[in-house]
Amino acid sequence: MLGMALWSVPCAITVAGFLIPTAAAGADGTVHTPSIFAPAATPAFAIRELALIVFGITGIIFLVVAGLTAYALMRFRRRRGDDGREPPQVYGSQQIELAWTVVPILIVVVLFLVTARYIFAIERRPPSPEALEVTIVGHQWWWEIRYPKLGIITANELHVPMSDAAHPTPVFLTLQSADVIHSFWIPQLAGKMDVIPNKTNRIWIDPQRPGTYVGQCAEYCGLQHAGMLIIATVHSNEDFARWAAEQRALARDDAAARRGRELFASLACINCHTVRGTTANGVFGPDLTHLMSRSTIGSGVIPNTAESLRAWVEDPASLKPGALMPAMKLSRDDLDAVTAYLLTLR
Ligand code: CUA
Repeated sequence: MLGMALWSVPCAITVAGFLIPTAAAGADGTVHTPSIFAPAATPAFAIRELALIVFGITGIIFLVVAGLTAYALMRFRRRRGDDGREPPQVYGSQQIELAWTVVPILIVVVLFLVTARYIFAIERRPPSPEALEVTIVGHQWWWEIRYPKLGIITANELHVPMSDAAHPTPVFLTLQSADVIHSFWIPQLAGKMDVIPNKTNRIWIDPQRPGTYVGQCAEYCGLQHAGMLIIATVHSNEDFARWAAEQRALARDDAAARRGRELFASLACINCHTVRGTTANGVFGPDLTHLMSRSTIGSGVIPNTAESLRAWVEDPASLKPGALMPAMKLSRDDLDAVTAYLLTLR
């Protein structure tokens, strides 16, 4: 029993540390604090349930052990008038040793079985015909987001419809990596899932409440591991249809930004970026067709404003050290023209 308690104390501390919410700036600059105790989708509801069960069991263990310790400290403390002799020394007790071996084993077995039950319940769900398929590719250090059936490619901001009992539209996510191991985690929607090169992992979410939910890469993947944020927006069905229609469209061709557009097409930009409807068809960097529909640049590191966009094109490393996009070394005029063009990609 004591062994179990010693094990559970550092465990409880770790869990408490993990619960301190990671702050992340959202689209509107407000700070969201994702917590597994504020779930918004089915797998996350199940995870909260399991967490509460584990907390309950370990909480009881903590109370029993801490209570007995406090009792022993009080009951057997040094008192005035003690004779100073050692108490009787006892060796061995089969009953007590059996109790503190068997009881912790039973507790661990119960925790294992309960956890296994939740894991199987979550993993068993097959994709239904009305499910939305999304492929997420982890890159150093951003997320590529593809909707194969809708013909949409975007980055860092996942948009999904709400799934209610009347219109169940779960989202099945296929997770792949372009380079190293990442981990996809939006705490309010689902558990963590590793994103592994040459292996495809699947998770699903079933968001029940519209809103914005933030997440983060949860596996150390290099210098900008902490700069690999993700924002998930859960829309009503009509809003999602509108968003999807806008994203499917080809890039705008704004005559006022013609010079920037030609410049962009003549530079190395197009080796890495796609702008659908133009000659730019690179695949190493984020698709820029609807760049300005996204609220951040650099996978959540800065808000997507004209000013920060210009600074990013001038030298990405000044905003996100280690970012794989090189500084474009443009003259001030060219920089203004390219920025003006990018600003038209709504
Ligand atoms: Cu990607 Cu950490």
